[in-house]
Amino acid sequence: MCGIVGYVGPQDALDVVLEGLRRLEYRGYDSAGVAVLADGILATAKKAGKLANLEKVLAEHSLPEGTTGIGHTRWATHGGPTDRNAHPHLSADGRVAVVHNGIIENFAVLRAECEAAGVEFTSETDTEVAAHLLAAAYAETPQGPGRLAEAMRRVSRRLEGAFTLVASHADEPDTLVASRRNSPLVVGVGDGEYFLGSDVAAFIAHTRDALELGQDQVVEIDCERGVTVTDLAGNRVEPTAYTVDWDAAAAEKGGHDWFMLKEIAEQPQAVADTLLGRLGEDGGLVLDEVRLSDQDLRDIDKVFVVSCGTSYHAGLIAKYAIEHWTRIPVEVEVASEFRYRDPVLDRSTLVVVISQSGETMDTLMALRHAKDQKARVLAICNVNGSTIPRESDAVLYTHAGPEVAVASTKSFLAQIVACYLVGLFLAQVRGIKYADEVAAIVADLRRLPDAVREVLDRMEPVRELGRSLADADTILFLGRHVAFPVALEGALKLKELAYIHAEGFAAGELKHGPIALIDQGTPVVVVVPSPRARESVHGKVVSNIQEVRARGARTIVIAEEGDEDVVPFADHVVRVPRTPTLMAPIVTAVPLQVLACAIADTRGYDVDQPRNLAKSVTVE
Ligand code: M6R
Repeated sequence: MCGIVGYVGPQDALDVVLEGLRRLEYRGYDSAGVAVLADGILATAKKAGKLANLEKVLAEHSLPEGTTGIGHTRWATHGGPTDRNAHPHLSADGRVAVVHNGIIENFAVLRAECEAAGVEFTSETDTEVAAHLLAAAYAETPQGPGRLAEAMRRVSRRLEGAFTLVASHADEPDTLVASRRNSPLVVGVGDGEYFLGSDVAAFIAHTRDALELGQDQVVEIDCERGVTVTDLAGNRVEPTAYTVDWDAAAAEKGGHDWFMLKEIAEQPQAVADTLLGRLGEDGGLVLDEVRLSDQDLRDIDKVFVVSCGTSYHAGLIAKYAIEHWTRIPVEVEVASEFRYRDPVLDRSTLVVVISQSGETMDTLMALRHAKDQKARVLAICNVNGSTIPRESDAVLYTHAGPEVAVASTKSFLAQIVACYLVGLFLAQVRGIKYADEVAAIVADLRRLPDAVREVLDRMEPVRELGRSLADADTILFLGRHVAFPVALEGALKLKELAYIHAEGFAAGELKHGPIALIDQGTPVVVVVPSPRARESVHGKVVSNIQEVRARGARTIVIAEEGDEDVVPFADHVVRVPRTPTLMAPIVTAVPLQVLACAIADTRGYDVDQPRNLAKSVTVE
């Protein structure tokens, strides 16, 4: 939520900052702004709407050339998405410029204090208070190297809530400072140049050398002095350095119309890379990176899976596999509810938090609550060095590569695979499955990339179907067993991309109320579980298809190759390859992603940046 870029070095800062903002725009696109420090003056430009609006303004009136700059792309919280509320915000004397991601919870008290001192505010944001406080703190801080950083520490100590703040001062032409609490910030280290970014995409075109910043830390980047990190008391801290394992090309559209299409196409690779190095030669699993001892894993008597949105749906799917393979009870919960209901947790509870971004505030807070209660926390995450894996006891990375489209696709498939690895590993360590049983499931996992490739090769009829559904008012999604969370995910994709009312239901629940929604021609997408699924679940879903069709529904059935039972009741059949019951979500989710994308595209919407959304949700 909100993208932040900062640059000091020899290049034209405006170019570097704008390029960074282009790559971070998926984090928020309500407004964008930049400030460049040139000849002792901070020049700013900001505009409501997407970055393209700001670029248009700059094409008409560019900023003076300077080598220090900051930029921001906003997802509005305090104050509407207007020019006035766009960042950067300046202090009253125009000497300090600040960009911010997060929410300063005590801003009202601080604003009143500034107003009492005679400051006039020019926006409705919580951020502006930081610019004024910083100017005042700077004035009170003794001159010398590190003065702006010291002022930032003084201000940060007074702030409550979540923030990444990046600030520039007109008197310090080669320096930027930043502070972070509960919001993301990484530092890029180039050759004689330094970058700040909400994530590494901000500077990936310039360097792959990055530094992680911890909670409540302040960083100064300075052309002469390099990078200095301290805690809020001013004690030096050694940041953790890492090299980003993807390059700028991975964050480009690569010839596709949308990032989402590219990311859908990358799914076979995302699944393969998530399995890579984790399937042993002997058919067992090798998860050395899970830093929990075998004894810890044997002591677990309860698993919670906690996450949001698409990652929550991955957790719902994981429950079927983990319970089936380990016989340990699993509860799945949305992170925003988890800590408020006082869940029963102790040392023998494993809490698995799933997050593509590793920055989702609801999930982070759930993680912290779990740790406070002494539970063990294992993160499944796609972004190296992000906050959630850093604060967890153990981490299993999904190697899906950068996901830029706001709607999650490849990370979803990779999350399911990672959860399955965790479940199977637990079963292996606890001796619940014989080695040959583990090996058989591992062999099923190995076949998944090809199965996804096969689905992708057959998607043209689904795109065509999507075009024909573009005028629908409501589309319902049904599934049972593992196909139920897939139906929920199909509905979420459609809502967020095409702004069509969509709901996912457990097919068996239909007759308990939702069936009343079905009218003549209502499209109903049914994800059919494998005919080999538990008991007669397949037969029951076939009956559910008949029930909705009898009431006028237009039925779109996702069924595996060779399942002829569905044919008489389907207006459209989308075929997926035959896969073992628990593996089916990996293939059945794909046509639903393609369908939502095609409908949104036909309706003329921005598929990569749907309205009101942001890729990583860093506020509660
Ligand atoms: O980064 P996270 O996986 O923690 O994000 C969780 C949700 O915000 C995310 O999955 C969201 O629902 C997606 N945009 C859905 O496509």
